[in-house]
Amino acid sequence: MLICTHCGRKYPAEFLRCPICNEPLQLPYFEGKIKKGNKVWKRFADFYPFTLLLKNSLGEGDTPLLYLPKLSQQLKINIYAKNETQNPTWSFKDRGTFVAMQYVLNISRRVGTVSTGNMGASVAAYAAHLGVKSYILVSKEIPEEKLAPIGIYGSEILRVMGDYGELYYKSIEVGKEKGIYFINSDNPFRVEGYKSIAYELAEKIDGDYVIIPTSSGGLFRGIHKGYVELKRSDLIEDIPELICAQAAGCSPIYNAFSQGKERIERVEHPNTIAHAIRNPYPPSGDAVLRILKEGNHCEIAEDHEILEAQKELAKDGLFVQPASAVSLAVVKKLVAQEKIEKGSKVILVLTGAGLKYIPPIRINIRDCSINDLSRCFE
Ligand SMILES: Cc1ncc(COP(=O)(O)O)c(C=O)c1O
Ligand SMILES: [Zn+2]
Repeated sequence: MLICTHCGRKYPAEFLRCPICNEPLQLPYFEGKIKKGNKVWKRFADFYPFTLLLKNSLGEGDTPLLYLPKLSQQLKINIYAKNETQNPTWSFKDRGTFVAMQYVLNISRRVGTVSTGNMGASVAAYAAHLGVKSYILVSKEIPEEKLAPIGIYGSEILRVMGDYGELYYKSIEVGKEKGIYFINSDNPFRVEGYKSIAYELAEKIDGDYVIIPTSSGGLFRGIHKGYVELKRSDLIEDIPELICAQAAGCSPIYNAFSQGKERIERVEHPNTIAHAIRNPYPPSGDAVLRILKEGNHCEIAEDHEILEAQKELAKDGLFVQPASAVSLAVVKKLVAQEKIEKGSKVILVLTGAGLKYIPPIRINIRDCSINDLSRCFE
């Protein structure tokens, strides 16, 4: 059973959005106890309405939480990184794909998604693993180098001309007609996968702030749902403040939040280096706004700040893509504004790996002759 995040009406599992208010649906809040097990899916089995079969897993989840000493010292806060780049296709999307695929296997042998890169690779990989045919719909602007990491898994890639925001809705419509189940960005079962990030964080740290790079809003909703379930189960005392981090060049949620609006508005000319979070009309935008109103916050960062943050994370040994580096860029702003107090425990969700998109990275190389090699060292 699914419940509308806005009006609370109930629908069967095959629905994807509320037909009355067109808002996203979600599974009910689950309560339970933590069990023993080396996999988050086993430890938190009480919080899922169906058995998560580990034979379908590619090893997603249970990612490291790292303390970043240099940045912590520099900003006078305690910064931790939840390193989601260590998932099987190098982004957090794998958690959602794993859980959603358990549902797909019961209803269809064909699956699809609309993707800027990460989700396409993730769905293609799990579909290959499980012997399901996959269709990945990408926008015409997708950089060429993002296609190989999707195509390698043997998925069918369709490059679609037209508005990317609209493609989300269109794919669901056509998917119904053709018997292809679309596990798009904020699919209810995908969100159930993302909530496992909150579970793993709560097992390790009583954080003050969790910074979440946000595009469609699926990840933000998932982490929030996870924390709410832990609180309702008396497993945590307080939910950390959740910070929605967006790129200034495409910030529909921030725009509505900062103007006190109830609904997001489409961004007409999205333009940011953080391609993975460039959704001009996020399908869970209004749902995220409702969560923000419960005492959470939203902030943006410019492209130059994002690229600077990407370099700073690399100084701590972490190579993330711009869409992930936005988390640190936003923290620096919030510390400067004294919105984040000194000494706070701040968790960056590092959503995707840097190797996925390398063109913006500038490096210095010195040429050397083997005969003069010793002269090349200063
Ligand atoms: C690297 C990265 N970070 C963050 C996000 C944002 O996730 P969501 O669309 O669930 O808000 C995405 C989404 O594609 C992503 O690829
Ligand atoms: Zn509704």
